[in-house]
Amino acid sequence: MSAVGVVAAAGSGSRLGADRPKALVPLAGRPLVAWSVLTLLDGGVDEVVVTVPAGERDAFAAVLPAGVRLVDGGTTRTASVRAGLAAAGDGADAVLVHDAARPLTPPAVVTRVLAALAAGARAVVPVLPVVDTTVVVDADGVVTDAVPRAPLRRVQTPQGFDRATLVAAYAALADGVELTDDAAVVRAAGVPVTTVAGDERAAKVTVPHDLHLAELQVPGLQAAR
Ligand code: C5P
Repeated sequence: MSAVGVVAAAGSGSRLGADRPKALVPLAGRPLVAWSVLTLLDGGVDEVVVTVPAGERDAFAAVLPAGVRLVDGGTTRTASVRAGLAAAGDGADAVLVHDAARPLTPPAVVTRVLAALAAGARAVVPVLPVVDTTVVVDADGVVTDAVPRAPLRRVQTPQGFDRATLVAAYAALADGVELTDDAAVVRAAGVPVTTVAGDERAAKVTVPHDLHLAELQVPGLQAAR
């Protein structure tokens, strides 16, 4: 089974408060996007396409391995993945879509996703349990309901798909509909999504605190790789 990776890296990172696109922010001296691309390649993906913010191709090319293809992203994640998927072409059996903002995802997560696809899944996501009590609040912040947490899962990336299934699901998604991940796109098309174990280290870097936490994990992670 051949697999192409699509890395969504066209976000601005305004919540991180950085002076550059989030994917170019360094973690232990290496930009977030470079960590994410290397994770996919280490985990068994054959080639990678990265969606970049408009006007930033040279800056991204300078920090990524030769052979990684770059394509302009869009104003939303959904638009960026659409562009990445189009650029990925139709040569691979599978597509893994990954957030550049999850730099410390262990390659073992990639391997688990690929194995589930090889075993016949059409769509697979890495997930973790919800450990906190989870509630619903009204507009005033008053708790109106408590959600049983046992069946809840937090969804991470990379998310893996049979390539033709994901392409068809994006084609069927109406223009202007924006979803926060790719599993939601295939679920909207009626495709079942299966799960594999995620990893706490695949946490998303969104706010400065996340980057501080990631910095603390790097020495141990490199020793474990
Ligand atoms: O905004 P959010 O944290 O959900 O972004 C997840 C990933 O999607 C990030 O890696 C970001 O770079 C990417 N993204 C994108 N194009 C956008 C917005 C976000 O590729 N327009």
